[in-house]
Amino acid sequence: MTIAIGCDHAATGLKEELKEYMTAQGLGVQDFGTYGAAKADYPVSALKVAAAVTGGACDLGVLLCGTGVGISIAANKVKGIRAVCCSEPFSAKLSRQHNNSNILCMGARVVGRELAKMILDEWLAASFEGGRHAERVAMIDAIEAGKSLI
Ligand code: RB5
Repeated sequence: MTIAIGCDHAATGLKEELKEYMTAQGLGVQDFGTYGAAKADYPVSALKVAAAVTGGACDLGVLLCGTGVGISIAANKVKGIRAVCCSEPFSAKLSRQHNNSNILCMGARVVGRELAKMILDEWLAASFEGGRHAERVAMIDAIEAGKSLI
């Protein structure tokens, strides 16, 4: 399993920590930046990671910014991306099981490093349950394709 990871300037420390954490677990990690403290616009990293996931180069993605909010909004503009912004493990787990989320977003100014790892663990360990949830995800796809549900 290969995870694409990206961030803006607010989250480079957390990105390095999570990269190391995932690598130590034997996961492949592709880092799409940013790499330093210089201001970096979060939509750029969001697009790079989203493209790696939808293009198949990576299986899942992790995006980090100050709050996790801006980078998740940006990633969700890419067709096929279901990005979730989580600050606790329960929503992260359910987002995989019910919503088939493919990018996890977190805020480096919101969650501490150990909580971020716990959220990541739950998210990675969970898998999509399909069934009635697949029907709802298909409805999301229909909205994305410009179809009307109503
Ligand atoms: C950058 O200052 C900040 O706006 C960004 O990291 C993020 O929190 C946006 O949603």
